[in-house]
Amino acid sequence: MAKKKKKQTMADRADRHALYQESVQDSEFELDFVQDTFKDIRKRKAVTLREDFAGTARSACVWTKRGKNNKAWAVDFDEEVLEWGRKHNLAKLKPKQQERVEFIQSDVLTVDTPNVDMVLAFNFSYWIFQERNQLLAYFRSVRNSLNDDGILFLDAFGGSEAHTTQVEKHKLDGFTYLWDQNKYNALTQEMKCHIHFRFPDKSRMDKAFTYIWRLWGGHEIDDLLDQAGFSNVRFYVQKFDEKTEEALDEFEETREVIDHECWIAYIVAEK
Ligand SMILES: C[S@@+](CC[C@H](N)C(=O)[O-])C[C@H]1O[C@@H](n2cnc3c(N)ncnc32)[C@H](O)[C@@H]1O
Repeated sequence: MAKKKKKQTMADRADRHALYQESVQDSEFELDFVQDTFKDIRKRKAVTLREDFAGTARSACVWTKRGKNNKAWAVDFDEEVLEWGRKHNLAKLKPKQQERVEFIQSDVLTVDTPNVDMVLAFNFSYWIFQERNQLLAYFRSVRNSLNDDGILFLDAFGGSEAHTTQVEKHKLDGFTYLWDQNKYNALTQEMKCHIHFRFPDKSRMDKAFTYIWRLWGGHEIDDLLDQAGFSNVRFYVQKFDEKTEEALDEFEETREVIDHECWIAYIVAEK
């Protein structure tokens, strides 16, 4: 008797990298921020960009569409995710744009690239470095890869909720995205986080991505950037609507965050 074929669920058919790009990453917003901030600080347009921890290299690809001289290098040590990026992000660019993006499979600690105007390390990926010396070595190596007026862009989050285990749910178009702060060591500030996806047919993609990070504080990051030789470090913190307390798409330069449950900031370090 022929075996009955099991019907595929929405989770079976889904692509975790496509879901990640839809739920986590907003390359357009990030590039607007870095482009405008670089221009404000350096009084010229940035042209070259290196995306560290690039994953699917979405930001590197979008960057080349923003100017005919723009060039980008995308660095990640995972060939599987880079290959996905080549197929889905690079392939969508025009041939001339494709020539201006280079995918590099390498550890960001040891990668050797031409010097650039901007290095981006977003979505907290540099928190994979849990030892002080390791993070310092990363910042030093980035500084060496920047042009004389180059800028490093990072992000960070914090607030009381960051120091707890919790699951955040976001209902998006066709699926639900879950950010699961699954384990938190209150002594060492090491955290284990997962991304899960749920679908309308009740199927699930659990642990689509897992991260083990140290929850670094703003002051510690500032100190390490300073020690690595960066000349000026600025924090741009996301603003909240005063009445509804909803997070806004606006970031304000400040050195102080009131005792919020959650804050997110861009960190801008000048060479
Ligand atoms: C959270 S994803 C970031 C994706 C994307 N850049 C973003 O902003 O959403 C982290 C990526 O960093 C890569 N990664 C982690 N440690 C790395 C290292 N030491 N060198 C290069 N890539 C690394 C992983 O392979 C993964 O693709």
